[in-house]
Amino acid sequence: MTTSTPQRIENQLTDKGYVPVYTTAVIEQPWERYSATDHAVWAQLFERQREVLVGRASDEFLLAQDAMGMTPHAIPRFDELNAVLRAATGWELIGVQGLLPELDFFDHLAHRRFPVTWWIRSPEQLDYLAEPDLFHDLFGHVPLLMNPVFADYMQAYGRGGVKAHAIGPDALQNLTRLYWYTVEFGLIQQNDGLRIYGSGIVSSKGESIHCLESDAPNRLGFDLERIMRTRYRIDTYQKTYFVIDSFEQLMDATAPDFTPIYAKLAQLESVPAGAVLPTDAVLHRGSGAGWLNDGDV
Ligand SMILES: [Fe+2]
Repeated sequence: MTTSTPQRIENQLTDKGYVPVYTTAVIEQPWERYSATDHAVWAQLFERQREVLVGRASDEFLLAQDAMGMTPHAIPRFDELNAVLRAATGWELIGVQGLLPELDFFDHLAHRRFPVTWWIRSPEQLDYLAEPDLFHDLFGHVPLLMNPVFADYMQAYGRGGVKAHAIGPDALQNLTRLYWYTVEFGLIQQNDGLRIYGSGIVSSKGESIHCLESDAPNRLGFDLERIMRTRYRIDTYQKTYFVIDSFEQLMDATAPDFTPIYAKLAQLESVPAGAVLPTDAVLHRGSGAGWLNDGDV
């Protein structure tokens, strides 16, 4: 694998919104280059989120984060995390500049490599950032790669992505929704209550509380085809969260070949982000408070 000099690549704000600047380079984490401010941002976000997440994030997530040796003291070194991660599930982290083109991303996952953005947000961006940074990727995504079942799910997703990419944009959209509503914004029913496992939630203080405690959003039982039809929000909290019973349920549901499912879904309308269907398993019907009527993607 070739490496190149680390640069900070951010999305450019244009009249079409944020347009990602893609680079496929894999880089060594420039650990010595992190400033005291970078480490302080990590420490502040880490401590704040851990406080919010005890009792809200899944036990698996919190235990895995501890087992990996992630602490607030300094930005973790990818090579040290990799020693633990490789031994646990055979996954490894690779450093990247930012968002990757879809096919590159899928290919990495299919080979049990998780791309982590090397740079961390600035102190002015603690609460909101339009794109993934080191905190989102490392704090949010990496711990569950220690879980053998979730680790397999992520690899299967990567393989599915390579396949969907070859099938076409509609298939890819169906699959992207699955990633969104599980890996990024998934909830899980534990014996002692509803918990968060999605990375987009665990790396956001506001959404960590909102997704579990607000009356506004729907909380619905996991349903693969329903999720693949459902539009979502990129600019606000989700209108709907889908709840799994276990990571095994996720793995089992996604084991079959999706090709016939994509063909079937191509005949059906998309479902708006906030809709509740008669066939849904409703854990909580959202009040819809504060929802904007447009803006689903
Ligand atoms: Fe993410």
